[in-house]
Amino acid sequence: MLRGAALVPVAGLGLAACSGGGGGAASAPTAPVDLGAEGEVAPGHAKLYRDSNVVVAREAGGALKAYSTICTHAGCPINKLQGTLLICPCHGSEFDAVTGKVRRAPATEPLTEVPVKVKDGRIVAGPAA
Ligand code: FES
Repeated sequence: MLRGAALVPVAGLGLAACSGGGGGAASAPTAPVDLGAEGEVAPGHAKLYRDSNVVVAREAGGALKAYSTICTHAGCPINKLQGTLLICPCHGSEFDAVTGKVRRAPATEPLTEVPVKVKDGRIVAGPAA
C-alpha cells in the first residue's frame, strides 16, 4: 500500500528568534578604554576587542587605527575577524579592519573611526583617548 505524501502543517514554529530586543543596543566605547598591551597588534595585523566593540589595526608604517565594530548596515556587533577582514554575522557585510572600508555589501558606509593612542605601553581607544 502506497501512502500519499502528506504535508504536515508546521504549526509549532515560534517567532521568538526575531524579537530584536534583549540586552540593549551594543555600542562602541563612549569613554577611553584600555584594550591591552601595545605589542598585541603587530604591523599589518588587526585585533578584534569584542567586549568593547572595537577593532584595532596597525598600518604597515606602524600607526594604529581603531574602528567601531558596530556594523553600519543594521547595527549588529561584528564578531569575526579573519586576518584583517571583519565579517558581520547578520547579513554578511565585510569590512577592512585597517581602513574601515566596506569590502562586501549590503553595508555601504565605512566603519566609524574611533580615536586610539598608546599610553604607558597600553592601547587606549575611545572618545578623547
Ligand atoms: S547588520 Fe551587518 S550586514 Fe547587516
